[in-house]
Amino acid sequence: MAKNKKNDDEFEPGAAQFGNFINYYEFNPPKNRLALFEGKFCECFSSDKRKILCLDVGCNTGELTRGLHEMLSSGQAAVRMMGVDLDPQLVQRANETIANEPESEMQFHALNVVTQVEERDQLWNRYLESQEPERKRFDIAFCFSTTMWIHLNHGDAGLESLLACLATWADNVVIEPQPWKCYRNAARRLRRANRPPFPLFDSLVHRSSVHDHIDDIFRNRLGMELHTHLGHSEWQRPVLWYRHKPTANLAISN
Ligand SMILES: C[S@@+](CC[C@H](N)C(=O)[O-])C[C@H]1O[C@@H](n2cnc3c(N)ncnc32)[C@H](O)[C@@H]1O
Repeated sequence: MAKNKKNDDEFEPGAAQFGNFINYYEFNPPKNRLALFEGKFCECFSSDKRKILCLDVGCNTGELTRGLHEMLSSGQAAVRMMGVDLDPQLVQRANETIANEPESEMQFHALNVVTQVEERDQLWNRYLESQEPERKRFDIAFCFSTTMWIHLNHGDAGLESLLACLATWADNVVIEPQPWKCYRNAARRLRRANRPPFPLFDSLVHRSSVHDHIDDIFRNRLGMELHTHLGHSEWQRPVLWYRHKPTANLAISN
C-alpha cells in the first residue's frame, strides 16, 4: 500500500464511518503538522505557566498527541495531555504506547465527545481537579481532522456542539477542519465499499464553506478570536489557533 499520499483525493485507506482508521498515521504522519508550529506555543506559554494542560479530541492511536506533547515539553512548563477518541480499539493502542511509562504525562480515554456528554464532563472535571485544584479549563484543546466526521455523523447541530464543547473546556483551541471536498471523498469511499451512506449527508446546511462557518461560530457565537492562522497541512487543510477574547460570552449551550 502506498504511504504518505500527498492529498486527501488520493487517500484510499478503505471506508471508516467515523474516521477511525487504524493505519491513519501511515498516510498522515504527525511531523507534517507539527512543523507548522515552529516554537509558537513555547513563546506563548513558557514565561508564565508552570503546568500546561492539554486535550486532544479525536486522538486516534495517539501519535500526533505524543508529538504535540513532545513539542510543548521543550518549553519550561510541565505538560499534561489527555487524548480522547470514540473508538476503544484505537484508544487501547494509544494506551499500549504509554504502558511502559509508569509516570506518563499522557492519558487516553474512549469517549464520544458529542453523545457522551455526562461522562465527558465528569472525566474532564475530575482530570482538571486532579492536576490543579480549582482548575476548570484546559489551556489548549487540539482537534485535528475530526470536525468532518462529527459533522457527517451528528449533523450541523453535532458540529456546533463540538465547537461549543471545545470553547467551553479550553482557553485556546487549535483546529484543523476538513474542507467540503473531503466530505465528498468520504461519501465516495463508503459507496465504493458498498456501505450505507452517511445518513445526514443530504441534510447538512453548511457545506461549501465549512471553514467559514466554523470561524463564524467561534468568533460570533462563542466569544473567541483567531489568534494565528498556522498555515495549511500537507493535505491543504487550514490549521487555526483560536483563543477567548478577554470577555467571552458563550451563546451556544452544549
Ligand atoms: C481522521 S482521524 C484524525 C486523528 C488525529 N486527530 C489526527 O489528525 O492525526 C479522526 C478521529 O476522530 C475520531 N472521532 C470521530 N468522531 C468522534 C467523536 N464524536 N468523539 C471522539 N472521537 C471521534 C475517530 O475515531 C478518529 O480516530
